[in-house]
Amino acid sequence: MPHPDFVSPYDAIAALYHRAWDDWYLPAVRPALERLFFSGLSDGARVLDACCGSGHVTRELARRGYDVTGLDSSALLIAHARQELPQAKFVVADVRDFSFREPFDGALSTFDSLNHLLTYSDLCVAFRCMRRVLRRGAPFFFDMNLDEAYEMDLGQWMKYDQEGYLGFSRGLYSKATHRARTEIVWFEQQKTGGLWRRKDAIVEEQCYTVEEIEDALRGAGFSRIDRYSALEAGVTHSIGYGRIFIRAFA
Ligand SMILES: C[S@@+](CC[C@H](N)C(=O)[O-])C[C@H]1O[C@@H](n2cnc3c(N)ncnc32)[C@H](O)[C@@H]1O
Repeated sequence: MPHPDFVSPYDAIAALYHRAWDDWYLPAVRPALERLFFSGLSDGARVLDACCGSGHVTRELARRGYDVTGLDSSALLIAHARQELPQAKFVVADVRDFSFREPFDGALSTFDSLNHLLTYSDLCVAFRCMRRVLRRGAPFFFDMNLDEAYEMDLGQWMKYDQEGYLGFSRGLYSKATHRARTEIVWFEQQKTGGLWRRKDAIVEEQCYTVEEIEDALRGAGFSRIDRYSALEAGVTHSIGYGRIFIRAFA
């Protein structure tokens, strides 16, 4: 469980995230998942989706018949995931502090979720937790944003316009501290009365070098570590720009 005082920045934008980011990342990254992760799992494998959000990728795992568990620190994103995928198991937990009794045959963490860990020691702790819940030799597949991805953030506002929701987001990046900050402002139309309610969120991410990520994995006990640029992984969509895909074996 996250600390009782912890409030995930994703809670405020859970409904927007669930709707506006649906079907954006997965179609672009599916070929990479197919080739580098699913191909190494046996039918019905027990798979952990760490930082699963509202279950956009978890849905794909469930569709393929894996025995899926999703974990995320946002209680409201998990509520969306549970509603959509009642057959899957979900836990509200912090990726830096979790354990399971039964080991997993594979795990993944998608859409730069691990960049949300803001210190290198947090990243190391999360990798150690992950290593402990995986069967020996099991793959852990994840992607993270590198400098190039964050440097694209030019402070321009993007608009998300869907029935009942209107949202804007912009990314800012400090090259000095390698800290990225996404500001999100959105308006949700109330079901009764038609008035609009404003919600705000700031999501921060930290950029690590490939060497730091690999050192943290080795320190956590992962053995073979394969890394792929987006193009090598088969991701041609702009979402792959500056994104690295890593497969590490426990
Ligand atoms: C960009 S979203 C990606 C969600 C999902 N993996 C997907 O592909 O749609 C990042 C996710 O990381 C989760 N997250 C951030 N920090 C976390 C932490 N310390 N423990 C667990 N989840 C965390 C957020 O709540 C959010 O759901």
